[in-house]
Amino acid sequence: MSARWPTEGLAFGGDYNPEQWPEEVWQEDVALMREAGVNLVSVGIFSWGELEPEEGVYRFEWLDRVLDLLHENGIGVDLATPSAAPPVWLHLKHPEMLPVDANGLRYTQGSRESWCPSSPVLREHALRIARVLAERYGQHPAVRMWHVSNELACHNGRCYCDVSAAAFRDWLRTRYDDVDALNAAWGTAFWGQRYASFDQVLPPRRTTTIPNPGQRLDFERFSSDAFVDHLAAEAAVLREVAAHLPVTTNYMVMGEFHQLDYAATTPLLDLVANDHYLWAADPDGWAELAFSADRVRGLAGGEPWLVMEHSTSAVNWQPRNLAKNPGQLLRNSLQHVARGADGALFFQWRQSRAGAEKYHSGMVPHAGRDSALFREVVDLGATLGRLAEVRGSVVERARVALLWDTQAWWAAELEAHPTVDVRYLDQARRLHRALLDAGVPVDVLPVSASLDGHDVVLVPTLYLAPDGLADRLRTVAERGGQVVVTYFSGIVDEHDRVLLGGYPGAFRDLLGVRGEEFAPLAEGARVALDDGSVGEVWSERATVTDATVVASFADGPSAGFPAVTRRDVGDGAAWYVATRLDPASTTALLRSVLDAAGVEPLVRDVPAGVEVVRRVGDDAAWLFAINHTDADARIDASGTDLVAGEVHDGGATVPARGVLVLRQDH
Ligand code: GAL
Repeated sequence: MSARWPTEGLAFGGDYNPEQWPEEVWQEDVALMREAGVNLVSVGIFSWGELEPEEGVYRFEWLDRVLDLLHENGIGVDLATPSAAPPVWLHLKHPEMLPVDANGLRYTQGSRESWCPSSPVLREHALRIARVLAERYGQHPAVRMWHVSNELACHNGRCYCDVSAAAFRDWLRTRYDDVDALNAAWGTAFWGQRYASFDQVLPPRRTTTIPNPGQRLDFERFSSDAFVDHLAAEAAVLREVAAHLPVTTNYMVMGEFHQLDYAATTPLLDLVANDHYLWAADPDGWAELAFSADRVRGLAGGEPWLVMEHSTSAVNWQPRNLAKNPGQLLRNSLQHVARGADGALFFQWRQSRAGAEKYHSGMVPHAGRDSALFREVVDLGATLGRLAEVRGSVVERARVALLWDTQAWWAAELEAHPTVDVRYLDQARRLHRALLDAGVPVDVLPVSASLDGHDVVLVPTLYLAPDGLADRLRTVAERGGQVVVTYFSGIVDEHDRVLLGGYPGAFRDLLGVRGEEFAPLAEGARVALDDGSVGEVWSERATVTDATVVASFADGPSAGFPAVTRRDVGDGAAWYVATRLDPASTTALLRSVLDAAGVEPLVRDVPAGVEVVRRVGDDAAWLFAINHTDADARIDASGTDLVAGEVHDGGATVPARGVLVLRQDH
């Protein structure tokens, strides 16, 4: 990734959709943007139908005027290619580009992203309009960055049409070369599913009962690859025409979304950008935000990244769209910045008057400038302005790493597994939360990332572990690190075929444990461990072959079997946890592991619910302290607070629901 950043200080702004408004409003828009300190807006994301109302007939005058106006007012533009919203004429001319679901139902146009990712028609037209835009605006002085499409795979992540079927077969031919290699990989001897040629293979469309898991997993890979290809193709056109501008696209590293293997896309981008929306009903949404931001930083290789979208207040697509409370906007924005974002952008600048998202908050609400929300936006802009010096610094490297992987996620949640209660992210989030509450920083890394420099490596529910991971973990332990692997990890090979000889096949030797049978728990059941810990969801009947039993199951279906084990490896150790420990037990286990590695919290005795993160630059460091509780919190840290401008010496008080950013000179 390159260091070209689109703004001088931290980026602040949002999606700007002036085509929804008469031109008089544009003048007010730029005046209010200046008042709020906006320096970057994303333009044109859904404008294809406005820019090319008929095939080959372009209307650029409005966009010319918008870009000129923004430039005159010193506001930079993140210019989008409009492939997220193909125009009606294209859909009508080529209905075959509309996606088809697993039941064979073809979608109609009428919303957005209604295209099959394997459609050559869509690809051709998307590249054509991208080139036309790049040629027209690539040298425009307002344009600072390219925004490829929008949230790739958000609505059209999987398409089962005939075009996709043919593309899937080509992808399989490249992967396997020989159809018997595919038969072996997918275990087609089971239920007599043997293929005599690639031509017989279909996408995993709706079928009578459990589909073939190898086919399902390869289809996930193929579908994700189709979007990676699309991104690569658009990025190539933009770079060919206007190579001086950085290229990004907005990820959806949030909640449960996992249609795209983002780790495969980062080499295509100059900077990583993410969209994040809180799940309003979750009172601990801030912790999910922290987890998301840490994952994005891991994808960005620790470099600064950008929040491309979040919301000033309510969204419009959840069952109950709760408004943010006063102060929450600042906390959420600075959470992202604390965890490595060099800016905070929103969907969207002006709340729409019409259309599907008119009840989604914006930076300028329906009430207009004279509103508490706009005043909060102005305050946020001023605060980000005071934090400008943070730009380019990085989050201090953590000594703890937590690994995740989209392919493992796909595989872990295939049908017909031992229990529906194993959800891929559950264990990762629980571990992350325990570290958050303990004030211990963690790098959340794609599974292929380097583990050099990490003294504790956590491997939650990594059902499908890549080849070589066990050796990389052994190296960490040999040099004195602590490795923790949890239940349902290392079970299958890349084709979802079980690694034989006892679970967990990939990690059996590293952990010194051999499992004979899974024994998941009944719905809602809990098991006691003999050290007082409590397990949920999972147990198993395993024995130690070369490890020490730290705790055993005291009751439940695996009573008497080890639940937590440790094997000394070199100067360190490899731990195995055969159940999902409840939150208190997770905290206790992590305390033992962190103590063994000598890892301490960033700041001692920070109350739970107060996040503390440090970014470091060449001459200074910035300690972000974000208080999500209703009580003032005293922390043992000093420095000049860039939010309120006060100097704190001999400790600082983080106000209830407030934020401090303490500059600490080296
Ligand atoms: C995002 C999308 C935006 C807007 C927003 C609403 O998924 O990129 O265009 O729809 O959600 O929350």
